Amino acid sequence: MVKNRFYIPVLFIVFMFIFVSVHAQEDMVAIDNSVFGFVQRAPSVFKHDEHNEKADIEDCYTCHHLYEDGKLVEDESSEDQSCSDCHNLKKSGNAPCLMKAFHSSCWGCHKGKKAGPLMCGECHVKEK
Ligand code: HEC
Ligand code: HEC
Ligand code: HEC
Ligand code: HEC
Repeated sequence: MVKNRFYIPVLFIVFMFIFVSVHAQEDMVAIDNSVFGFVQRAPSVFKHDEHNEKADIEDCYTCHHLYEDGKLVEDESSEDQSCSDCHNLKKSGNAPCLMKAFHSSCWGCHKGKKAGPLMCGECHVKEK
């Protein structure tokens, strides 16, 4: 009986761990910057669903776009692909390099709408 009393809290902790890690995967909170290799900045904050709700963006292809013969395909999105699947660390063809792709997309919209962060440190938030 003494053993059981020990195992119950241990099991509880294990379950909490699984629960927390599963949820952390579901809700993106920052952009994965690992493809950059050497990074100069903290990863940009981006709470995917919450961001898009607050910013009132309905179409996935606003960010997850798809081009065919150099033309944007309306209403079709590439959300099953990473930006880095098409945008390399160096510019290739018409596709801007990966950093520029992110900056033009994120920053570009914020500038245009006069909403959302514009300062480096507001997106690349250093961990405390
Ligand atoms: C609107 C948000 C936003 C702003 C403002 C912004 N960035 Fe970024 N930046 C990103 C995102 C998203 C990426 C993709 C990878 C990541 O999250 O770091 C990125 C990537 C980068 C990278 C390549 C990855 C690395 O860390 O080496 C650098 C360098 C960078 N930004 C520097 C800057 C600098 C300098 C400024 C200000 C002049 C700035 N950024 C402003 C969103 C932003
Ligand atoms: C404001 C821009 C933006 C909009 C709008 C947007 N996304 Fe994303 N989404 C991103 C970025 C940036 C990433 C990270 C891509 C990367 O790291 O290469 C991402 C990643 C994803 C991922 C893979 C990562 C994960 O969360 O597990 C999925 C799936 C996804 N988005 C689905 C959608 C769907 C569905 C919609 C429309 C309802 C949508 N997105 C709208 C910017 C956006
Ligand atoms: C399926 C491939 C593909 C994926 C995935 C993709 N892109 Fe692109 N992107 C392209 C191509 C091709 C171009 C060049 C279009 C042209 O011919 O002008 C481009 C152009 C751009 C441009 C410049 C033109 C514009 O629309 O403003 C930005 C910014 C950009 N991409 C950001 C992103 C971001 C951010 C992501 C991830 C959320 C992403 N792209 C995912 C293929 C892709
Ligand atoms: C199509 C327009 C658009 C695009 C693309 C976009 N944003 Fe935003 N973003 C907004 C708007 C609008 C707000 C202000 C929302 C509000 O009212 O709080 C915002 C707010 C934010 C905020 C403030 C916190 C929050 O979630 O409200 C962050 C951080 C942010 N954006 C990061 C990004 C990053 C990183 C990207 C690129 C991966 C990006 N945004 C792409 C429109 C956009």
